Amino acid sequence: MQFRSMATILESTAAAAAAFALAAGPTNAQTTSAPAEEPPPNFDSAYLSNAANITTGKTVWDNQCRHCHGSSAYPGKAPKLTPGTYTPSFVYDRVTYGFRGMPPWKDVFTLEERKAVVAYIKSNDFSP
Ligand code: HEC
Repeated sequence: MQFRSMATILESTAAAAAAFALAAGPTNAQTTSAPAEEPPPNFDSAYLSNAANITTGKTVWDNQCRHCHGSSAYPGKAPKLTPGTYTPSFVYDRVTYGFRGMPPWKDVFTLEERKAVVAYIKSNDFSP
């Protein structure tokens, strides 16, 4: 009986600590790191057609995507991309978070680089 009441005290202490951590959380998050999930960027036509973005995206592609997705890799490690069937957000999501055999690139490329490779893949310049 005594043990049980001790456990109850511990439990309520833990609950109070958790509530405090939750309350303190958002303030900490702002000063430390980015949230786990970035809000999906807005890919408007001005962004997608911007030549500088497409050039940056091509560099990303050449360095880190072509060796799996490039035409010289077929049939290879990754499916041939069919950009006409993708929304920009879909490509961004796969690039950022990965999917099965597709590695996540969130910690490798900056947000701008991940957005730029979307612009490149969706552009007429895209040549795998
Ligand atoms: C290690 C090899 C590898 C690398 C490097 C790689 N991918 Fe992938 N990617 C894959 C595989 C495998 C899949 C298929 C995942 C599945 O659907 O099972 C995939 C899927 C995708 C898809 C979704 C295709 C679809 O039709 O569903 C996109 C878009 C994509 N990759 C883009 C990229 C971009 C952009 C890069 C460079 C930043 C990249 N990938 C680098 C292996 C790779």
